[in-house]
Amino acid sequence: MPDLQLAADGRLRHLLTLEGLGRSRIDALLDRAAALRASWRSGAPLPPVLERLTVANLFFEASTRTRTSFELAARRLGAQVVNFDIASSSTSKGETLEDTLATLEAMDADAFVVRHRENGTPARLAAHARRAVVLNAGDGNHAHPTQGLLDLLTLRDHKGHVDGLDVVICGDIRHSRVARSDADGLRALGAASIRLCGPRDLLPAAADFPDCSISEDFDAALDGVDAVIMLRIQKERIEHLPDLDQDGYFGRYGLTAARLARARPDAVVMHPGPMNRGIEIASDVADGPQSVVLEQVANGIFVRMAALAELLRR
Ligand code: CP
Repeated sequence: MPDLQLAADGRLRHLLTLEGLGRSRIDALLDRAAALRASWRSGAPLPPVLERLTVANLFFEASTRTRTSFELAARRLGAQVVNFDIASSSTSKGETLEDTLATLEAMDADAFVVRHRENGTPARLAAHARRAVVLNAGDGNHAHPTQGLLDLLTLRDHKGHVDGLDVVICGDIRHSRVARSDADGLRALGAASIRLCGPRDLLPAAADFPDCSISEDFDAALDGVDAVIMLRIQKERIEHLPDLDQDGYFGRYGLTAARLARARPDAVVMHPGPMNRGIEIASDVADGPQSVVLEQVANGIFVRMAALAELLRR
């Protein structure tokens, strides 16, 4: 799959995963996002680099942040946006996703933003696209590349760099596409350690996360880290969810102020959302001075602008 997203000349053709993307491409996307953010915040008009282009949002799974920020990103750069309504579409009459894509491409859609519960669906559509580009907005537990990018941008904002950082990701790692894309991005940018932590049933196979440590002991994993990324339990992707003892889970894996004190004093607290307060994170930490959760949300718009502009060669 990493090859499918590159054109013959080595440029980015689709954005499907951060795996194998490489440091220079990731840095270039982050730099572009930061430049767009600076323009937007200065009040300067943004370059209408997506004028006359059409971005189609194909979300087969629920989303608040990703879908809205892709739409805002596209519109602010001058694109038209189609929010494809799955429920009232002909996919409900048996039309394949490939035929849906070909139909929208025939209407001159230039970019497809795809979220789907099955791993590999955006890649499948990318392989089928004639001219349009495909951006993965989250597929199963495989990848969520723009979430990875916005997390890297947020870390870089606060730490100045990602090289050498110690980062812990805690929660349901096994079913998380965010954890996979974060780990790919952190590895590419030279993080010193990527510590994965959670209860045994929610931990991944080590082979799925090269160069990461895996542990069930959150307190130990927090020691001296620069950033804490908390994840919710991905109930929608767990076939047989064991009875969740919420208090027990919070007791062992909930991020409280007392626990956070084990991290560096300037550690940032991140969460891709949606958050489950009182399960994986205490409200006072979610809203506290070390939380950068809403900065992550804001950065999502700018990394999605950068990705759309890069893929559409503008
Ligand atoms: N982080 C994230 O993907 O959030 P949404 O599901 O709201 O898009």
